[in-house]
Amino acid sequence: MVKHTATSVVTIERFIIEEERNHPEATGELSGILYDLALAAKMIANKVRSAGLADILGSAESENVQGEVQQQLDVLANEIIIKAMDHGGRLCAMASEEEPDIIQIPENFKCGKYCLLFDPLDGSSNIDVNVPVGTIFSVVRKITRGRHGEMEDILQPGRRQVAAGYVIYGSSTMMVYTTGQGAHGFTLDPSIGEFLLSHPNIRIPETGRYLSVNDSYEELWDDNVRTIMRKYKGLDGTSKALSTRYVGSLVADFHRNLLGGGIFAYPANRKTPRGKLRLLYEANPLAFIVEQAGGAASDGAQRVLDVLPTELHQRTPLFIGSKHEVELAKRVLGGAPELVGA
Ligand code: AHG
Ligand code: MN
Ligand code: MN
Repeated sequence: MVKHTATSVVTIERFIIEEERNHPEATGELSGILYDLALAAKMIANKVRSAGLADILGSAESENVQGEVQQQLDVLANEIIIKAMDHGGRLCAMASEEEPDIIQIPENFKCGKYCLLFDPLDGSSNIDVNVPVGTIFSVVRKITRGRHGEMEDILQPGRRQVAAGYVIYGSSTMMVYTTGQGAHGFTLDPSIGEFLLSHPNIRIPETGRYLSVNDSYEELWDDNVRTIMRKYKGLDGTSKALSTRYVGSLVADFHRNLLGGGIFAYPANRKTPRGKLRLLYEANPLAFIVEQAGGAASDGAQRVLDVLPTELHQRTPLFIGSKHEVELAKRVLGGAPELVGA
């Protein structure tokens, strides 16, 4: 593979083409999906950056299938992605956090051999207070016969992903993706409207600096989880204390830990016995990225990418980031079934 140094100016489109060259059998369809996602990301970034001016803050007075109040930007980002992706002829179906069921490709458009799953806007509760939000996506290959995608195509374990990534709308807009050949970061240069390679071959430090967890659920955790958190905080007298950093946007917390080293933990608790985060379009894509960067992702009992999905919007406990801290969670939790994705 062509080795890039951050000094060479490489657009995401050029990088995708060069990656494709490593697969002689590639038809270019997956590359086309990644281009179109980069375009959708620019369009969403544009809306997020000026949301405060265009009166698109606040709730959309509607709820999604999870019973969560949708923000106007959730709905807008969802529509932008669907409209950018539904006519390219590379997808046979889509699935979104904001849609109850599979999104079929309209009859007048060609169908392809991939499915796209996505969280159009992650961290919605932060939109109105100008804290970074993101988009998360996952691509799997169609496994059923016939033209249109079916639930069986969508409900595949994360290890079957062919591509995954996220966009973070932060102090700069960055897109990070993998096709299984490493994890690479691209920063949007707004003056030319191009994503430029800025973080080739991202590697997450073996042990973390940061702990991202919402401590307000402490009372609802079981003892095993409390034990892990005490270790992460250096309160057990043997471990190094991690600094707590919790933004409340998974993408923002994950991205900081990916670059600086750390663990994001959203354990199961008595209120959410299967965890809060969604397996198919939050945990799986970020798990693919973090493993490609040398990290790990577990639900406490098993590797996230090995979890066999049964429902479109199923939730999972999540421990993701530096390998050392994830291993610790797995050792202490030891697969306690009642609290890890039972
Ligand atoms: P989304 O906005 O897509 O619903 O995701 C919100 C998620 C995730 O971004 C974040 O890590 C988590 O919710 C925060 O949950 P708590 O507020 O319970 O900590
Ligand atoms: Mn989310
Ligand atoms: Mn969301």
